[in-house]
Amino acid sequence: PLISMREMLDHAAENGYGIPAFNVNNLEQVQAVMSAADEVGAPVILQASAGARKYAGEPFIKHLISAAAEMYPHIPLVMHQDHGTTPDICQGALNLGFGSVMMDGSLMGDGKTPSSFDYNVDVTQQVVAMAHKIGATVEGELGCLGNLETGEAGEEDGVGAEGKLDHSQMLTDPEEAAVFVKATQLDALAIAIGTSHGAYKFSRKPTGDILAISRVKEIHARIPNTHLVMHGSSSVPQELLAIINQYGGKMKETYGVPVEEIQEAIKFGVRKINIDTDIRLAMTGAVRKFLFENPDKFDAREWLKPAREAAKLVCKARYMEFGCEGQG
Ligand code: G3H
Ligand code: 13P
Ligand code: NA
Ligand code: ZN
Repeated sequence: PLISMREMLDHAAENGYGIPAFNVNNLEQVQAVMSAADEVGAPVILQASAGARKYAGEPFIKHLISAAAEMYPHIPLVMHQDHGTTPDICQGALNLGFGSVMMDGSLMGDGKTPSSFDYNVDVTQQVVAMAHKIGATVEGELGCLGNLETGEAGEEDGVGAEGKLDHSQMLTDPEEAAVFVKATQLDALAIAIGTSHGAYKFSRKPTGDILAISRVKEIHARIPNTHLVMHGSSSVPQELLAIINQYGGKMKETYGVPVEEIQEAIKFGVRKINIDTDIRLAMTGAVRKFLFENPDKFDAREWLKPAREAAKLVCKARYMEFGCEGQG
């Protein structure tokens, strides 16, 4: 059934695991996540970005997720809005029936300009007030996602800061985090530790200087009772890039967030791990391969099936790796 995000994250904290939050935009992605969770007994967070709501249309997003709840009544499920850029957008999602919303006040309402601390506190407080009144959960964000070597937000998908960021903006400050959590009373805090959205996160396998898992530990030590969220957490598996490029794709060399680094972060308070890109890579590789090998096929179901299966494999792997097996 649809349950409270807060309840789900509390359970994860009590039992020491993390939950992948998968971005969904269409039927096949919803099916992939649900069947993966069903096979391993995992709890599910389905999240829709503003872009997803625009792509599918709000009624479709809402009813796709309702359909998932109906088809899998035994799976605890949360419908979460990802990266709301204004309190109005969050209110819209709550009206639609989302049980959880992210107010990303780390950026201004344009979703591109880094904001001030006071602005962030103000908009996040507003959303906490409207959400808690109806029992909904709020995720906020402090710090800007960005590449610590280049200062780029990695916003090829349109979600992220524009222009260069400086080093300190891209690492959430533990003291500020404590003040932010106290002032806003939010339920979960997304932190910046060097990850960024999209496929091009790191130019090499990340080491501690460009992926600051140590910062997770410092933040957790300061606010041990706050659930932490990692964005930009796709692992960008090399084998998925290879399939894409083997069948006509042209992706450049790139590295994601290694699963073992996420596993380390889960030991220090990270409970929600956002993943979109890995599903995109898996589906694209599978479609390219299928159509290359079957140039005579034209029934969309025939190429959507392997895409859905490839997405499912990624989801299942993350559920197992983050400790979700049997927790649903
Ligand atoms: O926040 C980033 C997610 O990957 C969502 O991307 O806005 O293209 O749906 P999107
Ligand atoms: P990835 O691009 O690494 O999958 O991150 C997705 C995300 O953070 C959505 O909010
Ligand atoms: Na989010
Ligand atoms: Zn994100």
